[in-house]
Amino acid sequence: MKQLKVDLGKRSYPIYIGENLLAESDVLVQHIKSKQVVVVTNATIAPLYLETVLNKLTAYQVATVILPDGEQYKTLEHVTTIFTALLEKKFSRNATLIALGGGVIGDMGGFAAACYQRGIPFIQIPTTLLAQVDSSVGGKTGVNHALGKNMIGAFYQPQAVIADTTVLDTLDDRQFAAGLAEVIKYGLIADVEFFDWLELNIEKLIAREKDALAFAIEKSCATKARIVAEDEFESGVRATLNLGHTFGHAIETGTGYGEYLHGEAVAIGTCQAAELSKRLGWLNDEDIERIIKIFEQVKLPVKPPKTLSTERYIELMSVDKKNIDGAIRVIGLEKIGAASLPFNVKREVLEQTLNSFFEI
Ligand code: NAD
Ligand code: GLY
Repeated sequence: MKQLKVDLGKRSYPIYIGENLLAESDVLVQHIKSKQVVVVTNATIAPLYLETVLNKLTAYQVATVILPDGEQYKTLEHVTTIFTALLEKKFSRNATLIALGGGVIGDMGGFAAACYQRGIPFIQIPTTLLAQVDSSVGGKTGVNHALGKNMIGAFYQPQAVIADTTVLDTLDDRQFAAGLAEVIKYGLIADVEFFDWLELNIEKLIAREKDALAFAIEKSCATKARIVAEDEFESGVRATLNLGHTFGHAIETGTGYGEYLHGEAVAIGTCQAAELSKRLGWLNDEDIERIIKIFEQVKLPVKPPKTLSTERYIELMSVDKKNIDGAIRVIGLEKIGAASLPFNVKREVLEQTLNSFFEI
């Protein structure tokens, strides 16, 4: 088992990464300081892993909340379902919430924990690759609104993150590829050597070779932990973790949540952010080819849906948490391995970039 730390002073917490952690280790109970525990999961994950987790909780008063599965259910309504379960059980302010699932469950469970009685402790047990390398670390929690992705939420850090890599065995290839989009992101924004390594080892990752996968998860978590420790509330460098996300969120919102997986939308959005960076004179054609190639190898999409248009994109991108005073702000790549901070993008350059993706 590897252990990393998100260094946030008194609110620091560990990230455990390893095989069979849920069944064979006691890291979960080590972080529960209450008698009352609520496990939040969904209808797909419950039959696979809920019993393994509950077997560790026989000494506690446990409630379970099983939500429907899907990005379209990442809503305030379903967070209210969690509040109702906690209130029906008369759970106190020290009760512990365990989020057992991918990014959707982690974001909703974390938000419920942030709000219930103004905050109860929670533990992330991420079960997708995307959640293990990104969403479970760093304390961004929240839900979608029909008018904007992740627009309702809170920064709220967990007590611990337990990434049991064995659970990835049941993840389908499409979901696994979506997680690789965020892994590739870390190389692009912060670590050219890691990007070079990814190019050389991408087939091993696609084949889920254990050593390569363990290295990629650990490297990704280490980068995320470092960036979060430096800028917890995203006043600077943390925004670079959103490379491609302004474009990607427009795709997710514009297609009604669920048609594109988050990682798929991020892959397309990253290609669009790269194209924008080329138009600003930062990247060259060879860089663009390398970025498109690695996403294509993973079988991730690199072009936006034809149902969107430049105008619709711009309308959707104008609802984004990075925007200031209504101006659209994006992250670019100054080179592979170095993202820019968010900047106000000129309308003309944005239109040209988006138009280039809709030309036949
Ligand atoms: P997800 O939570 O929808 O999970 C993907 C699918 O895999 C679901 O159908 C789920 O039921 C299933 N699943 C989960 N674990 C499984 C397993 N071990 N075996 C089989 N099936 C399993 O999607 P995701 O990609 O994990 O997360 C995407 C969400 O995360 C988005 O809502 C995105 O906005 C959010 N996100 C948040 C952050 C953050 O910092 N908070 C960062 C990145 C993404
Ligand atoms: N996923 C972006 C962040 O955590 O900041």
